[in-house]
Amino acid sequence: MLEVKNLNVSYGRIQVIKDFTFSVGNEAVGFFGPNGAGKTTLINSIIGLVRPTSGEINFEGQSLLDRETYQIVRMGISVVPQDGELFPIMTVIENLRIGSSYIKEAREKTSERLEFVFKIFPILKERAFQLAGTMSGGQQRMLAVGRALMAMPRLLILDEPSVGLQPSLVTELFEKLAVIKTEGVSILLSEQNVKQGLKVIDRGYVVENGTVVIESTADDLKNNEHVKRSYLGL
Ligand SMILES: Nc1ncnc2c1ncn2[C@@H]1O[C@H](COP(=O)(O)OP(=O)(O)OP(=O)(O)O)[C@@H](O)[C@H]1O
Ligand SMILES: [Mg+2]
Repeated sequence: MLEVKNLNVSYGRIQVIKDFTFSVGNEAVGFFGPNGAGKTTLINSIIGLVRPTSGEINFEGQSLLDRETYQIVRMGISVVPQDGELFPIMTVIENLRIGSSYIKEAREKTSERLEFVFKIFPILKERAFQLAGTMSGGQQRMLAVGRALMAMPRLLILDEPSVGLQPSLVTELFEKLAVIKTEGVSILLSEQNVKQGLKVIDRGYVVENGTVVIESTADDLKNNEHVKRSYLGL
């Protein structure tokens, strides 16, 4: 579904992504790496917020390189950004409605989509009329994922969704991701919390200094010496 080949990205004269090749099919894929590895830059390149210097990015056979972000979202890719970007003084349901408002097909199915999101995150239905900014950190993270789902994505990209959440909430959120995957949505998950991330993904890429250092299945990553030492504290 998503195929990225030999991607190079620079900010000014500094190259931060180097010859990066990866793909996402009907599955959950992880990007694991430390601060500054280039995870957000990769995500921003996919959704047209950063323009690569060279390489290919294809989604369902179509190049994303010359498209604007809104067009890419319309094609079926939705992102939960690293900082959530909710509208704090709007209610939960208003935030959700914004998620489908820019895409005709999703807008026409807003009530259906709301039911879908409420089924996965019942707390959002309970708190539908609460201001988003007064929700707890974990609830806001669920709302950010719910809002991304309102756009009817076939690929959901999450940029470090576990940051700032206590372990039990991370477990809860990641269990929801597993449910979302069974609903036919592919997932690309960027994480530093490799231990939790490995529970959700089918395959993963370890990203260091803008390149792939390991590419493997979740099971093999769990047993990889470098992963154990650098990311699992074993
Ligand atoms: N707009 C920018 N201008 C210049 N350099 C940037 C810009 N955005 C990111 N960088 C640099 O690119 C590199 C990769 O950053 P990026 O944010 O993609 O990493 P990351 O893996 O998402 O890190 P984190 O886990 O901390 O979010 C870093 O060295 C960063 O300083
Ligand atoms: Mg980042």
